[in-house]
Amino acid sequence: MEINVLNQPFDQVASSALVVLVFEDAEGQSAAAADKATNGWVRELASSGELTGKLLDVALLARPAGLTSQRLLAVGAGKKDKFTSAELRKIAGAAVRFLKPKKCPDVALVLDSDLESAAMASAAVEGAILGNFEPDRHKSEKKNGAIDRFSLVASASPEMAAGVRRGRILAESQNFARELVTEPANLLTPTLLANRAKEMAAEFGLDCDILGPDRMKQLGMGALLGVAQGSAEPPALIVIRYQPENPSPQAVNLGLVGKGVTFDTGGISIKPADGMEKMKYDMAGSAAVLGAIRALAQLQPPIPVTAIVPTVENMPGSRAQRPGDIVTTLSGKTVEVLNTDAEGRLILSDALEYAKRIGCTHLVDAATLTGAIVVALGYINVGVFSSDQSFSGKLLASAKTEGEKMWPMPVDDEYKELLKSSFADMGNIGGRWGGAVSAAMFLKEFADPAPWIHLDIAGTAWLEEAKPFLAKGPSGVAVRTFVNLAMNWR
Ligand code: BES
Ligand code: MN
Ligand code: ZN
Repeated sequence: MEINVLNQPFDQVASSALVVLVFEDAEGQSAAAADKATNGWVRELASSGELTGKLLDVALLARPAGLTSQRLLAVGAGKKDKFTSAELRKIAGAAVRFLKPKKCPDVALVLDSDLESAAMASAAVEGAILGNFEPDRHKSEKKNGAIDRFSLVASASPEMAAGVRRGRILAESQNFARELVTEPANLLTPTLLANRAKEMAAEFGLDCDILGPDRMKQLGMGALLGVAQGSAEPPALIVIRYQPENPSPQAVNLGLVGKGVTFDTGGISIKPADGMEKMKYDMAGSAAVLGAIRALAQLQPPIPVTAIVPTVENMPGSRAQRPGDIVTTLSGKTVEVLNTDAEGRLILSDALEYAKRIGCTHLVDAATLTGAIVVALGYINVGVFSSDQSFSGKLLASAKTEGEKMWPMPVDDEYKELLKSSFADMGNIGGRWGGAVSAAMFLKEFADPAPWIHLDIAGTAWLEEAKPFLAKGPSGVAVRTFVNLAMNWR
């Protein structure tokens, strides 16, 4: 999608659809001007109750008199004093998704001058690009259409241009992640994921190292290899490095670790057939991490960032690990595999240890780790676990700015008791209750003593239903938060 800033009176903009914001409680500039240009259409809709100004309410006028554009789309923007970039992102997305099937190749959104800022410009562009995404790569007929061009009608300034650029990079990288998550497991094996990562790294000038099973054996990554051994597909550990040209004097290296299980059958502790097809999204954490570093390569944060992705397929088979097997992790700790379906924490344990060895000082992992986080937080919030309050405080602030809902969960040694094993240093499951917390406690054993944050995205990485501003399927959650965290490092 082509993105522009149109520094033009909005009534002269020749788009297929011009979008204006209508607030619930206050008259916005562009709505008022559109009302005037259309001889009172906006106010008429408001008084008839057709358009309330409620967030994401829409009303469409064809061939509006007084405007050069072919259509006028009024979108509810909610209460003016509650309006933030998160609302604008949704509005732009909803407008694009509403207009997409209506043969509207170019859409122009009028930004009221009191909303002109880099952050608002970025959010509008993000919303449009994210809204335009469809997980239809494998459909012969693309039924939903697409928008070719999105413009912001606003005064052109270097600030606006920077916001637009940021928004485009962020959303294209989030869509890169969503594209990966959409891919079925036959077309995205660990090897193919590693290839895609390598291609991306080359495209953006990032250093990329891929460890195969031989190097894993040499190093002693018994947990990662144990999960991988049931599959004919070899595992990979993807390491991508971003190094700033003028690094800040701080000795910091942010490690982003993403769970990359390209398919999770559960292994010998096999999952029920119903809904198992969805387990192709068990690599959403890896996609988020790869999407983030793709964006960071272009936005150039002041600190080095390393993406570390352990990727495997969790399969049953004659070579598969069995419940009761004991593996030795890279850290030297032994683990009794009490349930082969708790594979994410196993592969992440070796990846977290490896991240520390290659110099990461701060660790954040993203993983579709537990069904239990869905019980705790539903499909709304990412679960945030951390060993360091000031670090997680930064990440939660980033999440808030980027409009990604995340909520703190407890980290407490009392839960560690749950991971006891009779025959090894620890077991890989913690029993029925508090499953998301015991999973996090397992990871913490391997992240310590580095400041660490774990994001359980099992409930938020996949949308069961479309939203007005996002297609059904992969959400691309955590990409924007990661980028914000690195860009605003202090
Ligand atoms: N990938 C799953 C977690 C998951 C569940 C993600 C639902 C998305 C939706 C993970 O590997 C898993 O199987 N976890 C088990 C852990 C249990 C065996 C302790 C779970 O949550 O049931
Ligand atoms: Mn599993
Ligand atoms: Zn899994």
